[in-house]
Formats: sequence, structure tokens, C-alpha cells
Amino acid sequence: MSARMDVLLGAQWGDEGKGKVVDVIAPEYPVIARFQGGPNAGHTLIFEGRKHVLHTIPSGVFREGTLNLVGNGVVIDPIVLMKEIDGLKAAGVDVRDRLLISRRAHLILPTHRALDAASEAEKGKSKIGSTLKGIGPTYMDKTGRNGLRVGDLERNDLGERYGQLVRKHERLLANHENVPDHRAMEQEWMDAVARLRELRLVDSEHFLEDTLRSGQRVLAEGAQGTLLDIDFGTYPFVTSSSTISAGACTGLGVPPNRIGKVVGIFKAYCTRVGSGPFPTELHDALGEQIRQVGHEFGSTTGRARRCGWLDLPALRYAVTINGITELAMMKADVLAGMDQVMLCSAYRVDGRTTERMPYDITGGVEPVLEPMEGWPASTANDQLPAALERYIARIEAAVGVPVTLVSLGPDRAQTMLRDASVAQ
Ligand code: IMP
Repeated sequence: MSARMDVLLGAQWGDEGKGKVVDVIAPEYPVIARFQGGPNAGHTLIFEGRKHVLHTIPSGVFREGTLNLVGNGVVIDPIVLMKEIDGLKAAGVDVRDRLLISRRAHLILPTHRALDAASEAEKGKSKIGSTLKGIGPTYMDKTGRNGLRVGDLERNDLGERYGQLVRKHERLLANHENVPDHRAMEQEWMDAVARLRELRLVDSEHFLEDTLRSGQRVLAEGAQGTLLDIDFGTYPFVTSSSTISAGACTGLGVPPNRIGKVVGIFKAYCTRVGSGPFPTELHDALGEQIRQVGHEFGSTTGRARRCGWLDLPALRYAVTINGITELAMMKADVLAGMDQVMLCSAYRVDGRTTERMPYDITGGVEPVLEPMEGWPASTANDQLPAALERYIARIEAAVGVPVTLVSLGPDRAQTMLRDASVAQ
């Protein structure tokens, strides 16, 4: 019987801890597939006392017997990918038999990175806070129908096509000052694509069809988060891809009626890196405390993440847009020890209270905050503190789906599964 593809994605502004959950549940899935984004992502996994950060490769790569697919919706920087592969090799993981790359995935060129930097510099104060990995310009070339794809590496006119695209980029870059020197990276890029060509390149849509038909389950792993989605995020302060569950269909070539569970990952609080609206942001010592205790510094850029209380209107929006069927709550341990925590239950916009995400929150909305009793650090291995259970029950009641997994620390082992106790 045909199997389903489950989707796991971020329900906030990214950095929710998706990598850890994928790694924990990976044994249930023979195939893990990334469907969008690129090296702007940084999925951190910690086990056996060692920290690993993945940018392009799916988070199932540490599990023997799991195949990891980089789907057509992903943009790949060959230089970053090769560094990642070398890093994994040094950690004792040989990816050759575990990694598949879609021929339809687009390639990030050194000039895409230069264009990203130039575009951000030009925006001045209104800059997005891009990771400067070339993501936006690469997706622009994809939709502009100029892009280079992994499958082009197998053609013999690659040099010509590369040259054409670089010349187009150079014409654009000529309008900017102080652009990074992309020529310095060209040889490294060429060497990296030569290695990329030797990996297992596949037509991922056919590969996944065969996988599902043969009864093997697939997990689609999202990057970034719902509120950074190109359509439904806090535009224009968003990334350039579809981070939502529908993106798993277009980013892998799997039809919607093959989707099974949709697991939304969220933190017990909120963070955001880069610019853009953040209704529950804490600008005080408490925000700093969460940042320090939660190590809220970007795994890709090292930037300090902005921190704030959990935002229920935003979480409910993510549940709706994605069709989330269950939630995983991360970093509950970071808030442990506080006497009181706050939950944002609604927004006040133009004198009205709403529980819905307005069209535009870039002008700012006022969060309606609800105090909740804090919880102590969890001591017993198999039980959550009662106040934390009440916090979770409040969230479930507000968004209408169960929280089935609670993470109480970075290690694989610090994870608790809960019964599905959906409130109405
Ligand atoms: P870009 O995707 O590099 O163009 O960045 C666009 C916006 O998305 C910026 O605000 C970034 O900080 C944010 N962003 C991109 N990737 C991630 C991520 O993996 N986690 C959190 N924020 C991200």
C-alpha cells in the first residue's frame, strides 16, 4: 500500500529546533527530504556531546539507513555543500550512500552572493537582514527563468551557460559600489560543482513516487519558518521561498493528497533574526536573559536573535496556513525557573482586539499579554511540571491541535512525548 509523506516545518520565524526533532523521529522514515531554502538555514543537532550544524543536507544524515534528499525547491551553493560534506566526513559520516540531490534544484553562484550583498547595502535602513548567502537572487533567477540547475552540470554547454549568467550578473553589479569580489571564488565554485556532479543526482519527483508507492514513508523537512514565507510571512521581511506545507508539494514534486501528518515546531517563546515586525519582542533584561539561557545566536550568521513571548495569534495562523496536525514545543527548559511567563493571546490594532494575523503588521501591533504561572526545571524523567502542563493546555486550547512532543534540552535524550490531548 502506498505510504504518506509527513511534513515537519517551523511555525514561527525559523530557528525553532527542527533539526533536533527530525533527528529524533528520523528512525520512522526511510527518506528525509528538504524542500526549500538553502544555506541560509542552520539546523543544529547535538548528541553524544557533539554539536553539528547542517545547512543544505537534511537532518537524517546521522542515521544509518536513512536516505536524505535535497529537493528541487532547494537552492544549493556547491561550495557550502562540499564544506558540509567534508565536515561530516571528519565526524565519521560518509554521505555518499545517504545523500541524493534533485537535478531540478537551482545553483547559487558566487555572483548571486555578491548581488545579495549589493541589494541589502542599497536598502540601507529598510534592509531585510538577509543571511547574504545569495538566496534571494538565486530564486529571482529561478522565477526569471535564467537559473542554472544541478541537472545542467551533466550537459556539455555548462561553461557557456555559466558565463552567460555571470555576465548578466556583472551588468547588474556594475550599478553598485563596494561589491564583494566574486572572481576570487570562481575556481572554488568550479571545483565544488565538479564534486557535486559525482554525487547521486536524481529526478526527485520520480524517486519519491516510487518510494511512497513501495510503502516507505517520507518526511519533508522545512527550513526557516511560516512567518518568513514569501506569501504569508511578514512581507517584505521574509525569505524567498515557500516555507509552508504547500511548499513541500512544489519543492519535492509530491501531490497534496499524498501528505499525511503536518508537524509544526515552535519554541516556548519566540525569536526572530534579522529585521521585521515582532509583536511580542522583549527589549529588556528578560529578553537578554532568554537570549543567553537559550543560546539564541544564529547558527549560520552568529547574529544575536531577538527574543520575546510566545505569540498565539501567529501560532494559530501557522496552524491554519499549514494544516498542522500536531505541534512540537521546543526549549521549554529555557523559561524554567521564572515565577511568571506571558502569553500573547491577541493583538490590538487600531483600537480593536483581534486573534487573527492582520494583512500588515510592519507598522506594529500591540500584543495583549496574559500572565501564566512559571514552571520549575523538570526533574522527573517521565513527567512535566504541572505549571508547564497548564501552559501547554492553554496553547492547545488556543490553536486547536495537540502538543505531542516537548523538548527540555538540546540533546536527543532530552525529549518527552505526550499523549495527544487535544483541547476542543
Ligand atoms: P535570506 O533568506 O537570507 O534572504 O534572509 C531573509 C530573512 O530571513 C532574514 O531576516 C533572515 O534573517 C531570515 N532567515 C533566513 N534564513 C533563516 C533561518 O534559517 N532562520 C531564521 N531566520 C532566517
